[in-house]
Amino acid sequence: MKKMIVGNLKMNMENVSQRDAYCKEMCEVFSGIHTTHTLILCPPVIYTEYFCRAFHNTSFAIGTQDCFWEMYGSYTGNTSPKAIHSLGGTHVILGHSERRTHNHESNEDIVRKTKTAIRSELVPIVCVGFLSHDDEMHSVHEQVGALLAGLSREEMEKVVIAYEPVWAIGSGKTPTSDEIHTMVMYIRSMIVQEHGKDISAGIPILYGGSVTAENIDETCMQSYADGVLVGTTSLSPEKFAAMVRGIS
Ligand code: 13P
Repeated sequence: MKKMIVGNLKMNMENVSQRDAYCKEMCEVFSGIHTTHTLILCPPVIYTEYFCRAFHNTSFAIGTQDCFWEMYGSYTGNTSPKAIHSLGGTHVILGHSERRTHNHESNEDIVRKTKTAIRSELVPIVCVGFLSHDDEMHSVHEQVGALLAGLSREEMEKVVIAYEPVWAIGSGKTPTSDEIHTMVMYIRSMIVQEHGKDISAGIPILYGGSVTAENIDETCMQSYADGVLVGTTSLSPEKFAAMVRGIS
C-alpha cells in the first residue's frame, strides 16, 4: 500500500553549510533506494528554492511549513503560496501545533490558508490534534469541523490531514496503533457525514509524533494511517531511510 511520508525539518538548519550537507547526504542515501511511496521534505521556507533544485529528478517532492492566506500584496514578512509553487514546491504544512501555539493561528486562519494554498496549486497538509490528551477528541472535532464548514467539496478532495497529538511531538512517546486507528476513523467518519464515503476514502490521513524506524510498523501500518509526518527522524538521512525501508 502506497504511503505518504513527510519530513518536517522545522527550524533546524541554521546556516547554508548545514543545508548543503543535509541535501548532499539525503540524495546519496536515497540514490540506492527505490520506493513507490510518496516522499516529501518540508525545509524552512528560505531554503525552498535550494531544496527544489537539489532534489530535482529524485523521488522527493518539496513543500514548506506554512504559507499566507493571500497570494500577493502588502503583507510584510509573509510567504505567498503562489511563490512557493513557482519555485517548484508542491505541498505546504498548515496548522501545525507549533504554529497554533507560537503564532496564535486560529482554525479560521488555517481554513483561509488552506483555500489559498489550493488556489495556488499546492497540496495542503493540515495538522489537527492540538491540546491535551484528555480533550483531544474535542480539539480534533473542532479543527476538522472548521475545515468541513469552510471548504467546498472540491477543495476538501485536495486536502491531506495529519493527526498529530501534541504530547507525542518530540517526546519519544506515541499512541498505540489502536488509538491512532480510532482517531483516523473518527476523522474519516466526520468527512463521510459531510461528503460521503467516496470523498472520505480519497483523503489521506497521516499520523505524526515521534515516528521512527522502530515504530513505523505500529504507527503507520498497524494503525491503517495513510502515511506519517515526521520531525526528528527526518533530520537524519540514515534514520529517515531506515524508516522508509521499514514500510517498503
Ligand atoms: P517529531 O517526529 O520530532 O515528534 O515531530 C513531529 C512533528 O511535529 C512533525 O510535524
